[in-house]
Amino acid sequence: MVKPDGVQRGLIGEVISRIERRGLKIAALKMIHVTPELARKQYADHAEKPFFKALAAFVTSGPVVAMVVEGPAANRLVRNIVGALDPEEAAPGSIRGDFTVSKRYNVIHGSDSPENAKREIGLFFSGDEIFSYETASEKWLTVTE
Ligand code: PPS
Repeated sequence: MVKPDGVQRGLIGEVISRIERRGLKIAALKMIHVTPELARKQYADHAEKPFFKALAAFVTSGPVVAMVVEGPAANRLVRNIVGALDPEEAAPGSIRGDFTVSKRYNVIHGSDSPENAKREIGLFFSGDEIFSYETASEKWLTVTE
């Protein structure tokens, strides 16, 4: 999910482009305004954290771009593209390493496990908003045998 700061900073295309260039597939994509209720569900694991209020206020402060990314090890690969949460640890070349200096205003959220990805996809998308299709280039990107 491109967070409100990423949208405001004009980084939607940059984020999508990095995911596409890696060879991953966008299976769903939409701009939405996260409601307080959706934020509570999305960040349920962090409800007791001292920063929860600030985090919820931030993600509901403006539109975000949510997406479903598909591909071999998509969850791990996207986490690598996103980069570490701590700006001092985020590697140059990752989105956070290239564009962020803050733990709160950090441009992008990536699900932290395949299980959480499944849960979050269910919160953000209905079944008919998720597309299953073959791209012309995918046979050059993955080896199945
Ligand atoms: S924890 O405590 O390690 O489980 O949490 P962490 O994985 O570090 O962070 C989870 C999400 O909380 C956001 N975060 C913050 N938001 C506002 N203020 C502060 N201080 C703060 N610290 C962490 C952080 O950006 C993570 O968001 P997502 O969207 O999951 O990357």
